[in-house]
Amino acid sequence: MKKKLRSYDWFGKSDKMGFVHRSWLRNQGYPDDYFKDKPVIGICNTWSELTPCNGHLRDFAEIVKRGVVEAGGFPLEFPVTSLGETIMRPTTMLFRNLASMDTEESIRANPIDGVVLLTGCDKTTPSTVMGACSVDLPTIVVPGGPMLNGRFKGECIGSGSFNWMVKEKLLVENYTEEDILQAEVGSARSQGHCMTMGTASTMACMVEALGLTLPGAAAIPAVDSRKKVMAQLSGRRIVEMVKEDLKISKILTREAFENSIVINAGVGGSTNFIIHLLAIAGRMGVELKLEDFDKIGSKIPLLANLKPSGKYLMEDFYYAGGLPVVIKELKKYLHNDIITVNGKSIGENNSKPQCYNREVIAGIDEPLQEEAGIAVLKGNLCEDGAIIKPSAASAALMKHRGRAIVFETMEDYHHRIDDPGLDIDENCIIVLKGAGPVGYPGMPEVGNVDLPEKLLRKGIKDMIRISDGRMSGTAAGTVILHVSPESAIGGTLALVQDGDMIELDVAQRKLHLDISDEELKKRKAAWTAPAPMAARGYVKFYIDHVQQAHLGADLDILQGGSGAEVTRDLH
Ligand code: FES
Repeated sequence: MKKKLRSYDWFGKSDKMGFVHRSWLRNQGYPDDYFKDKPVIGICNTWSELTPCNGHLRDFAEIVKRGVVEAGGFPLEFPVTSLGETIMRPTTMLFRNLASMDTEESIRANPIDGVVLLTGCDKTTPSTVMGACSVDLPTIVVPGGPMLNGRFKGECIGSGSFNWMVKEKLLVENYTEEDILQAEVGSARSQGHCMTMGTASTMACMVEALGLTLPGAAAIPAVDSRKKVMAQLSGRRIVEMVKEDLKISKILTREAFENSIVINAGVGGSTNFIIHLLAIAGRMGVELKLEDFDKIGSKIPLLANLKPSGKYLMEDFYYAGGLPVVIKELKKYLHNDIITVNGKSIGENNSKPQCYNREVIAGIDEPLQEEAGIAVLKGNLCEDGAIIKPSAASAALMKHRGRAIVFETMEDYHHRIDDPGLDIDENCIIVLKGAGPVGYPGMPEVGNVDLPEKLLRKGIKDMIRISDGRMSGTAAGTVILHVSPESAIGGTLALVQDGDMIELDVAQRKLHLDISDEELKKRKAAWTAPAPMAARGYVKFYIDHVQQAHLGADLDILQGGSGAEVTRDLH
């Protein structure tokens, strides 16, 4: 027997409420048959002019609708909170969980049988996926796609990567303000998200690796006509998924998460991958731990030669064959029989792609690096863990002992970092406190702080930096991030003082503050918590409920899901 559609409870009845649910929607001109047995497809749109990376998604929704109608569905588009990485203050991460709540409640409260998530900029992918997981309907993701390659002075430049060099370019290479203006426009040549393997591209690869997109979706540039084809086909496919009852929980198994960790290592994805994947797994009820990223991913070879750690950009990646080539190359590390949204396994979907440029995507036998994944550090400075991305770090600093130069807050850092009297050299370790989920609040991407001007002038390009914050996926350096527990809740990071010696040994996965236990105890007893950063509203709610980085920084009350059922009627 055919399964009753969820939307039937709204549109299928001949009583008063059936009339109410249908009648008001009729003001948009839908014919009778739209309310009879057609799967209703919610198109969850993160379009916003304040999220430049998603500025084209309004048009994309129309293309998805085309596909839904062709397959016999009834498309209804709805907006959710959008998060523009380069504009929102203090950080979009503060609002990722809020946007996920918006997505979850919007899906559940409405007569939706299946969902298409239109995403792009960094947080718009994890937030909507997290929300969709907590409802558990058939769900497909259409990633908005990267911008075309940036061009400046005859060279390719990466959006989101060049900006980290602005200070150095002005100081050391005598760039003029006009140069910077030209680079500004040259690095954002088309619609789409950052075209490096930054967080947005990482998130697009993450959802493809998890099996939540049609094969090959992640790398297609936003303005390429094939992206539109992908959007239309996704519209068609979601209608079939509803008929097959292919819910997101059938796709997001523990094995799918493991696949995603392997593939993220192969493309050299952003460190933000960890925090978002942990949060998604938490919604799905799949057990995933910070240590799994090291265990599963750290020995995987790096294949994609993409900025910030490599040379090329997403447009090149697409022309070289894109993610399907990486998946095919990594097949011996993957669970190949895991089902994806098109109903086929990840192995089947990616058995045929061909690589068209081995400079951009290396083969498994000649990888760019033998071991590329993220390393998880432990020690008295990060009892619940910290992370480092070795492929973006300096090999010479992987084992290092250095003197701590401590900044209590980001403001303190800005105030003193370029003070000529600051007693700092390239062997020191910059320690930044107050950048965690509770402390900032929202755990911003500040971990890769710029080096002091006087060291940049000396030609120093990298130093060890440690913080409880995150780092932009477009940045690089020997940067230790996500220190947990964070300083604002009394983690050992809060107790570090100027002049303390810190030892890093990435091979041994060790991060150690070299002071006696007795001294540590004394400092702990004398420590007082900073005043909370908000007394009301969402931010207060966030501070009261946010979990630490090693758990994905989701709100404790949002863990798991509540399904799609709504027990009370509108009456
Ligand atoms: Fe939106 Fe980089 S700022 S993806």
